[in-house]
Amino acid sequence: MSRHLRLGINIDHVATVRNARGGSYPDPVRAALLASQSGADGITAHLREDRRHIRDNDIARLCASLEIPLNLEMAATDEMLKIALRHRPHAVCIVPERREEQTTEGGLDAIGSHNHLAPFVRELSRAGIRVSLFIEPETHQLDAAISLGVPVVELHTGSYCDASGSEREVQLAKIVSAAAHAEKAGLECHAGHGLAFDTVGPIAAIPNIAELNIGHFLIGEAIFRGLESAIRHMRSLMDGARASALGPAVRGERQ
Ligand code: PXP
Repeated sequence: MSRHLRLGINIDHVATVRNARGGSYPDPVRAALLASQSGADGITAHLREDRRHIRDNDIARLCASLEIPLNLEMAATDEMLKIALRHRPHAVCIVPERREEQTTEGGLDAIGSHNHLAPFVRELSRAGIRVSLFIEPETHQLDAAISLGVPVVELHTGSYCDASGSEREVQLAKIVSAAAHAEKAGLECHAGHGLAFDTVGPIAAIPNIAELNIGHFLIGEAIFRGLESAIRHMRSLMDGARASALGPAVRGERQ
C-alpha cells in the first residue's frame, strides 16, 4: 500500500507536434524539465520502431538532462534492447507494438510471448534496469508476468477509460483485483493509458497502485491551460483521491 502515488508524465506527443513541422520546436526535453518542476515524479517516453514521435536523440538528451527517473517504453526487439543497454534508463516498460496502430492498443500477451520476452527481461535486469510489462488487468497475464520474474507490471487502463456506465465499473473492478493480486505476489503495480481528469480518481484511489503514467490528455490540456497547470491539477486530483481512499487514520489525522 502506497501513500504517495507517483506521477510519470509521458512526453511523446510534444514530439508529435514538433515532428509535424520537422524542426526542433516544441522540444520534448524542455517539456520533461518543466514537468519535473511541476510535480512529476518521472518521465516516460516511447521510442517506437517508426520514430513517429520520440527519436533516438531525444532519449540521449533526456538521459543527459533529467534529474528524475526516465521510464523508456519499448517493444521487445533487438534494436530497442541495444538502445536501452546503451542509455541505461532507470526503467524500461516493455509494450506491444504494431506499426499500423495509432497508440498502444492493448497489453502484452505475456503468456503467448513468454519465451520471446524472457531474454529481454533477463538482459535488461542484468544491466540494472527496472523492467515492467504493460499488460491487461487479467489474472492469467499477471501470473505470466510473475513467472517472467519482473519486479513491476503496468496495468492498461484503456478499456476502463473508454467504457461508460456500468461497463466502466466492470473494468474498474478488474483493475482493483489485478492490483491486489500483483501486490500479493510482491510486484509493484503501475497503471496508465487514456487517463484524464474525469477518470483518474477511481484509479488513484486503488491503494496497491504505486504509479500512474499519463501523457496524451495532459499534453492536449496544456494547449488550453499550460503544461504546469495541467500537471498540477492532475497531481491534486490523484493526491485527493488517494488520501480519501486511505482514510483519516492512515493519513495521520486525529480521529
Ligand atoms: N503507459 C503505457 C505503457 C503507454 O504505452 C502509454 C501510451 O504511450 C501510456 C501509459 C500513456 O497513455 P496516454 O498517453 O493515453 O496517457
